[in-house]
Amino acid sequence: MSITAKIHLGGKEFEFPTTEGSEGEKAIEISSLRSKTGYITLDEGYGNTGSCCSAITYIDGDKGILRYRGYPIEELAEKSSFIEVSFLLIYGHLPSRDELRRFSDLLTQNQVLHENMKHHFEGFPQDSHPMAMLSAMINASSCFYPGLMGSANRERFDIHAARLISQVRTIAAFSYRKSRGLPITYPKPAYKYTPNFLHMMFSEPYAEYEPKVEVLRALDLIFLLHADHEQNCSTSTVRMVASSQANLFASAAAGVCALWGPLHGGANQAVIEMLNEIHASGDDGRRFIEEAKDKNSGKRLMGFGHRVYRNYDPRARIIKKACDALFKALHITDPLLEIAQRLEEAALNDSYFVERKLYPNVDFYSGIIMRAIGIPTEMFTVLFAIGRMPGWIANFKEIIEDPKSRINRPRQIYVGPTVQSYVPMEERGK
Ligand code: CMC
Repeated sequence: MSITAKIHLGGKEFEFPTTEGSEGEKAIEISSLRSKTGYITLDEGYGNTGSCCSAITYIDGDKGILRYRGYPIEELAEKSSFIEVSFLLIYGHLPSRDELRRFSDLLTQNQVLHENMKHHFEGFPQDSHPMAMLSAMINASSCFYPGLMGSANRERFDIHAARLISQVRTIAAFSYRKSRGLPITYPKPAYKYTPNFLHMMFSEPYAEYEPKVEVLRALDLIFLLHADHEQNCSTSTVRMVASSQANLFASAAAGVCALWGPLHGGANQAVIEMLNEIHASGDDGRRFIEEAKDKNSGKRLMGFGHRVYRNYDPRARIIKKACDALFKALHITDPLLEIAQRLEEAALNDSYFVERKLYPNVDFYSGIIMRAIGIPTEMFTVLFAIGRMPGWIANFKEIIEDPKSRINRPRQIYVGPTVQSYVPMEERGK
């Protein structure tokens, strides 16, 4: 039986259809609300607004569930790889052996940047943030592939998607090398995705970087855990830009910009900066917890809290375990890890965080792993972007393949001055 929602306004009753997702999520369809009633909905920050129907990722924030195309994140983290998950997100099913080989070959064939793009790196100041370089360079890539505008074409979409996944990693590594005044290291076709990234980051012309297997596993896991997260700020941005029929590279570059902020992907950098600050001040974490609870301090416990999860972020649980395993395997310690563990314990037992259901999120421990691998702090959010690329591409594909897709264009409630008459300069006072 179809359920309808009734709204009473000004003595009249209006009916609206409802819809239900495959996991039982319910929504009232209000696309005719304004034309029927003259009202719109107002939901600042979109906490209650469904912007689309999507078949890519499912989250139940109360239960701490995350699934890509129906597969639990815990199972994918244990059994799959970033590249297999990328295929899964974009094409909707786990690849056969042949499909995975073809996808992997396409990534390899498209990993090298157009040689002229190298010159663009010269124009950035040495201390540029790599996120700025990443978004600029992804956008600049559009200029080198004129076929991009026809990206709805299936064959070209596959190539552009592979190009983007592969080249975001090449651009990221080049940005890092440039920012350190180091010579650029080209990708090696024989290497798989994650080892190739570490090779481009850390190999020198005179010395090949040889990563430990535990490091490769940890980094691949980080990419996999970041690969998609339904309608977060950056993915919504990608969909917004894609809805105007902008090309894939332009949409992804916008996603990078949205990801950069410290309330979103930039939190992984902010967590390490916070832990460093706590460490340098000799605080054991208790003072910082008090500051984070004080709204006037301007501080937050970075890596804690989430718009959707009102329970432990399942990615954080997996990353925390991986972090312990990596430190054990490499026989290393880090004072920042000890501070993070103390902060987590204190927050989980503090009524402020408990009442607001604030738990560690994906960013709380990921930075500590990246630090252990030798990734510099300013590259943390770039690694998030590399991981998130397949999710953005999958969302872009959903938009361009939807025959009902319309340009995204929210409304507003105007609260500025009502009509005024122009005042000539001489009558305006000082
Ligand atoms: N530390 C201290 N207080 C917090 C925190 C925090 N990390 N997060 C939320 N609160 C408080 C907030 O002050 C508010 O208190 P009150 O109800 O008394 O006004 C309450 O909890 C609800 O917070 P909110 O800001 O309304 O929640 P939101 O859903 O708008 O924001 C968030 C979610 C992730 C932006 C926020 O929790 C936050 O700023 N966390 C720190 C930054 C961070 O770790 N971001 C990464 C998110 S996960 C990865 C990703 O998506 O990129």
